[in-house]
Amino acid sequence: MARIGILTGGGDCPGLNAVIRAIVRKGVGVHGHEFFGFTYGWAGVLGNEGVELTTESTRGILHRGGTILGTSRTNPFKEDGPGVDGVRAGLEARGIDVLIPIGGEDTLGVAGKLAEAGIPVVGVPKTIDNDLAGTDFTFGFQTAVQIATDAIDRLHTTAESHNRVIVVEVMGRHAGWIAAYSGLAGGADAILVPERPFDIDEVCSHLRRRHDSGRRFSIVVVSEGATPRDGHDLSAGLSQGTDAFGHARLGGIAVALEREIEERTGFETRMTILGHVQRGGTPNAYDRVLGTRFGVAAVDAATNGDHGKMVALRGTEVVTVPLSEALAEPKLLDPELYETAEVFFG
Ligand code: F6P
Repeated sequence: MARIGILTGGGDCPGLNAVIRAIVRKGVGVHGHEFFGFTYGWAGVLGNEGVELTTESTRGILHRGGTILGTSRTNPFKEDGPGVDGVRAGLEARGIDVLIPIGGEDTLGVAGKLAEAGIPVVGVPKTIDNDLAGTDFTFGFQTAVQIATDAIDRLHTTAESHNRVIVVEVMGRHAGWIAAYSGLAGGADAILVPERPFDIDEVCSHLRRRHDSGRRFSIVVVSEGATPRDGHDLSAGLSQGTDAFGHARLGGIAVALEREIEERTGFETRMTILGHVQRGGTPNAYDRVLGTRFGVAAVDAATNGDHGKMVALRGTEVVTVPLSEALAEPKLLDPELYETAEVFFG
């Protein structure tokens, strides 16, 4: 029997509660552990704040979006931050034997540093962006894709009615997974992703060719992290600032694209930024199941001393992989997937 800490860090994501519920249910029921949930990510560890988690207190949350523990982008390793010592003190204050942080590159990056310092951790990979290496999918991604696809379907009918170009901006900081999946599912006429810097002239020529061949509307899906090729800086006027991990705040490329496309082609153009709608609300069945499988595997790994690892999906199997593997580089879009989507452009 051990006392296990849980926290959720970084942006929230559909399926977080499914993971928490699964860790506690198996951990209490099968292994006889006790659980403490730190609130608001690493802020809860550093500030000694949280709640005891029991089978009772984690009932009825499987289908709920967000996280019952709250989340934040607090970074213990920021300049002048408390670092390993601060985290260790926070864990000791609550008598934690093993910590299960649920998060993306930043939260698991902190977990990796703690593991190197000898603190027992087991990570669970979370991000709607699906850009974490070491796992085929993160939970939350499929829900975000469905939300984006539903939005594209709706925008399709209004674009068609008005003979407009509609630019749909989806999340995806380093990688275009959401754009490629939702664009493919929604029949996009162009998909712009961070992995392939775009040329605005080429995008406009493509739209002109499509309209010349009789189509009277177009749907362009763009990742928030997509960038124009050299010489075409469309970023002016976009939201600025960085978070505690040094990431630029993204969002707004669609504003510039709307203006550029309309000016260059003469086609009436509108844009929609889906933003945090993609992260909110109930997880779909896939993410509930994946989150549950990850939670069960994480508490088993914590119990078996399989520390310094992250649970991961490989094919259809849930396995554990070294945290270092997940943190090396972001997992970029599979070129084959993009090429498949491209068949349907135009
Ligand atoms: O990391 C996931 C993500 O959804 C990114 O795609 C996006 O840039 C970021 O979170 C925005 O998060 P927030 O506005 O909560 O800081």
